[in-house]
Amino acid sequence: MTGLNWVGRLGIVIALIVIEKASPALAWFLVVAAGLAATCYLLFKGNFLPRFIMDPLERLTRKRELVDTFESKTKKLAIIDDKTLASELKSKVIGQNGVVDSLATRLRQRLAARRPSKPIAVMCFAGAPGIGKTYLAKVLVEQLYGSAKHLHMIEMAQFDQAHAAATLFGSPKGYVGSNEPGQISKALRDIPNSIILLDEFEKAHRDIHKRFLSAWNDGFVTELSDGSKYPTNEAIFILTVNAGARRIAEYARDPSVTQDELNKFAKGALQDAQFAPEVLSRIDDVFAFRELAGLDIARVVALEMERKTKEYQLEIAGGGIDPDILYSAIDAFTQRKPEGGVREIARHIEDLIADGLIEAKAGGANLVEFVADGERVLVVPVDESLPAEKPTPAKTEPTG
Ligand SMILES: Nc1ncnc2c1ncn2[C@@H]1O[C@H](COP(=O)(O)OP(=O)(O)OP(=O)(O)O)[C@@H](O)[C@H]1O
Ligand SMILES: [Mg+2]
Repeated sequence: MTGLNWVGRLGIVIALIVIEKASPALAWFLVVAAGLAATCYLLFKGNFLPRFIMDPLERLTRKRELVDTFESKTKKLAIIDDKTLASELKSKVIGQNGVVDSLATRLRQRLAARRPSKPIAVMCFAGAPGIGKTYLAKVLVEQLYGSAKHLHMIEMAQFDQAHAAATLFGSPKGYVGSNEPGQISKALRDIPNSIILLDEFEKAHRDIHKRFLSAWNDGFVTELSDGSKYPTNEAIFILTVNAGARRIAEYARDPSVTQDELNKFAKGALQDAQFAPEVLSRIDDVFAFRELAGLDIARVVALEMERKTKEYQLEIAGGGIDPDILYSAIDAFTQRKPEGGVREIARHIEDLIADGLIEAKAGGANLVEFVADGERVLVVPVDESLPAEKPTPAKTEPTG
């Protein structure tokens, strides 16, 4: 009766009682037939089959794991619900609602109207450091594919010489390193349905930029060591760039500027940053990220503190971060405008709490609170059995 709800099951029982009143033999026949059918179903599922007729995969490997890997590597992205995707992304990526909305809409369109022999999309995330460009790509891969395995992240700053292209696309036979496949071809060979994140794209050599044109125009890359061609039509390319960040930030300060206007402005800024026109024209969309401001800074710092705390298998008690800590973070960010963005502030606070977290963990705590103490942050273990009484602070650290 698998798959029937309770109404169905009740119906069958009532029907059997009625049949049993009219003809007990028929009722017994039906019960025995149902028993036989259930037995056959179980045997058919393979769990109780004699070994010699079992599926070899059932017998010789962990079939479920194999099927999961196979399905995940061959799964094509279906049309998505852009509203759901956008709200999932917004729950993790703070203060970039305009980008997230237009990105989700664009992806929905691209997935609905696939272009033959082209990647699903070639997108560019532009803006200042530490405002969530790389992070959005990471969160997106989790939402689309359910696993970080589908993200191939390549730091493009290491390819500032034209000859470094060999590391990405392999070397022709006879050259040094020709036994090693290129990073891009290997990534596409292993997991073709993935996001290829080309981080800090503008820092790579212009010749290397152009090497991506066949991936974007013709829908494949050629591995030079053996001439194999790997399709790119299941891949999404995301380029992150800092080029023109200051101008984009200045333009974005005007609250009446819409996300579309900002994106167009960012595309213009990339042109001025010496991107080759043929490369720029192959980028489907440029998404301009706004600088984080006000309470969004506090949100990011609070999330970073939570992430750090979880690294020590600890949790932050409800309302456990002293607002003064977050207020100081906003203040420090606004005053100093650190080069690394909000990431730099968050890292400073992480340094302040690291020792306290170690001590809290060593003391057997599960829950902690963070209390501001001048320039320091105290990590206070919370005794769950005595909620009213707070133990003494575990550790204090002076600011650097
Ligand atoms: N908008 C945001 N929402 C949530 N977390 C953020 C946001 N911006 C930054 N962070 C946090 O800061 C870290 C650094 O951000 P990220 O790597 O995305 O910066 P970026 O914009 O790619 O900067 P860069 O140009 O220097 O590479 C992230 O891993 C994330 O934890
Ligand atoms: Mg980045």
